[in-house]
Amino acid sequence: MSFVITQGCVDVMDKACTEVCPVDCIYTGGRMLYIHPDECIDCGACESACPQSAVMHEDDVAPEPINFRAVATEFFAPVGSPGGSAEVDLSGSDHPLVAALPADH
Ligand code: F3S
Ligand code: F3S
Repeated sequence: MSFVITQGCVDVMDKACTEVCPVDCIYTGGRMLYIHPDECIDCGACESACPQSAVMHEDDVAPEPINFRAVATEFFAPVGSPGGSAEVDLSGSDHPLVAALPADH
């Protein structure tokens, strides 16, 4: 179980969520941040911290037009579980569906 960052974060990247996460499992990508689904301990602090209301529980994530629950899983597939955002730099990368979003999404 984990929380998921959705489209409201894209090109905003407020990062208030990273200040409250107790396990540093929110990673900065190129156009948005991603919560590691295996490292999140489901505390929910990030959900109320985000001014964009972009964070939601995985059970509440709509599958269309982009399933951000699947996006998070696929984003971390190449790196496994780094054990915290301080351990790896993913800031130049995005899931292909996020990278393909128009600027005025
Ligand atoms: Fe994004 Fe909200 Fe965090 S805009 S970076 S999910 S505080
Ligand atoms: Fe961190 Fe949010 Fe999970 S604060 S532990 S990513 S619910």
